[in-house]
Amino acid sequence: MKQGNLAVVGAQWGDEGKGKLIDILSEKVDITVRYQGGNNAGHTVIVGEKEYVFHLIPSAILRPSKVCVIGNGVVIDPKALLEEIAGLKKRGLPMSAKQLKISANAHVVMPYHRVMDQLREGKRSQKIGTTGRGIGPCYSDKVGRMGVRMIDLLNPAVLKAKLNDNLNEKNDIFVKVYGFKNYDFSVIYKEYLAYGRRLKPYICDTALFVNDAIDRGKSVLFEGAQGTFLDIDFGTYPFVTSSNATIGGVCAGTGVPPAKIGKVVAAVKAYTTRVGEGPFPTEFDTKMDDLIRSKGCEFGATTGRPRRCGWFDSVLVRYAVAVNGAKELAIMKLDVLDGLPELKIATAYRYKGKLYKDYPHDLDVLSRAVPVYETLPGWRSDTRKARTWKDLPANARRYLARLETLLKVRIKYISVGSKRDEIIVR
Ligand code: GDP
Ligand code: IMO
Ligand code: MG
Repeated sequence: MKQGNLAVVGAQWGDEGKGKLIDILSEKVDITVRYQGGNNAGHTVIVGEKEYVFHLIPSAILRPSKVCVIGNGVVIDPKALLEEIAGLKKRGLPMSAKQLKISANAHVVMPYHRVMDQLREGKRSQKIGTTGRGIGPCYSDKVGRMGVRMIDLLNPAVLKAKLNDNLNEKNDIFVKVYGFKNYDFSVIYKEYLAYGRRLKPYICDTALFVNDAIDRGKSVLFEGAQGTFLDIDFGTYPFVTSSNATIGGVCAGTGVPPAKIGKVVAAVKAYTTRVGEGPFPTEFDTKMDDLIRSKGCEFGATTGRPRRCGWFDSVLVRYAVAVNGAKELAIMKLDVLDGLPELKIATAYRYKGKLYKDYPHDLDVLSRAVPVYETLPGWRSDTRKARTWKDLPANARRYLARLETLLKVRIKYISVGSKRDEIIVR
């Protein structure tokens, strides 16, 4: 059966398993659209023995009959994108202009953005632990009306004027503030015009393309990157990324109006992880952290950094369900919890004698609060082979049912392994 439009958003700190879920859900839609973020994302899809990690290209690209779109809300490092395209071509994917569309309005990550990302981190006492891909500086320039868009790479005169203005200001900052080198105009100019020439076949007005397709009855899946608590507005600010990973990002990041978005599916892990710095109330102690990191292979898909791990936090996810209007939940990586004697779920936080039932935005509270836990019995058996709700051990069902009650949203998908078929659809 064909699917209506829908969006997949991360409801924790990213890496919830969105890539796997999108790969599965994209079978039933015509078009998959990324709406924000850049190559800070790493979305893993495993098909048979082959593993793919997508950074800028939507996770549906493995289905050659479907169209993938990189929306205007995404920031594109053209060099990284060309490498991703070349890598996929080498693995036998067509990567034709019919199959991949890139928004003319998407902003371009320039070499000085990547360097600025690292220099800024170097000066901060409170480090964010960014991926170093230039994401924050690129979005800053977009909002500061300094940015270079994909379409600008196709017009030498426009690129020249913008790059001149940018380097005029930035070279001063690089040299005087950071003691770094000057950027040479002609080197960047030539390099980026060449990227434009190579990417030209893919560049178009994707807002018109997607809206027109929807009007003709085609269905669309909106692919979120990062997660709700890395969202620039709703996340654990300033330990966040620089875009709206939440559902609001879809409209601004694709040009598709709200009434056309359809259903929102929130993806969560059966526990919690986070890469980079920032508060994490339910973070494990070292022993549990090591155990779950090795069982869940919790290393960043983009930077390879070890992910911090912790118990499921229903305070956070309840908030994510609310701000995303999620009607369905996908619980990923349930199998990683197999064999634990007991499991904990945070249901509130306590700080200075006060009970917090809702997600607190105060950094002090978030950083120092002690979670109030509910403890549930674990299960001994292996969930990887389960394909229906009934196949799951009774205590796994009890754990999931408790999450549904706490979050007041139905669990529609339960993932029990990294492969395509290791999923339960209720
Ligand atoms: P994304 O950024 O949300 O797409 O997630 P990542 O790809 O960064 O991280 C999720 C990791 O978990 C990847 O290595 C996936 O292959 C893996 N994964 C996804 N679902 C499952 C699952 O149900 N069980 C296990 N064990 N691994 C999974
Ligand atoms: P996916 O799409 C997990 C984190 C970084 C850092 C913060 C800011 O795979 O879920 P940035 O480079 O964006 O300025 O870094 O955000 N971060 C992610 N963490 N998954 C991601 O993407 C992430 N993208 C950024 O680790 O803490
Ligand atoms: Mg990831």
